[in-house]
Amino acid sequence: MKSLIFALPLALGIAATAHATEPASFSKDVVPVLKTRCVMCHLTGKEPGNMKLAPKVAYATLVGVKAMETGLARVEPGKPDQSYLVRKLEGTHVAAGGTGDRMPVGGAPLPPEQMAAIRAWIEQGAQNN
Ligand code: HEC
Repeated sequence: MKSLIFALPLALGIAATAHATEPASFSKDVVPVLKTRCVMCHLTGKEPGNMKLAPKVAYATLVGVKAMETGLARVEPGKPDQSYLVRKLEGTHVAAGGTGDRMPVGGAPLPPEQMAAIRAWIEQGAQNN
């Protein structure tokens, strides 16, 4: 009986840790946000901002590509605060030498859990996963 009392919290603790360390995924965490909140204004790359955010081409438009509005890359692997995408979404882009509006323009800012997922994906190396 005594061992069961100790084993249960331990098992729950391991499950919680496994969830927290699950790697961030471009296709599962980032693409769905782009699809529902961004692609209508950033589709062909000819719109203001010059980005193609449709699922199959978004990675190539974002990762390691210099932004139009500032010297930062849109996504700098490992460095969310140096990523213009994050700055535009958090509204801190002007302090990073940028211009224009917070994204998505005309819509509500992304909820904290989506921002956390995008930041985690960049922190973990912005992989095409
Ligand atoms: C209603 C249209 C609209 C929506 C929706 C929208 N954008 Fe934009 N975006 C623009 C316009 C217009 C610009 C250029 C002017 C500006 O920066 O305000 C722009 C510029 C940008 C830039 C700067 C690109 C560069 O290289 O300098 C980024 C990054 C960006 N958008 C990301 C996003 C993301 C991510 C979303 C979805 C969460 C999004 N946008 C949703 C219209 C939109």
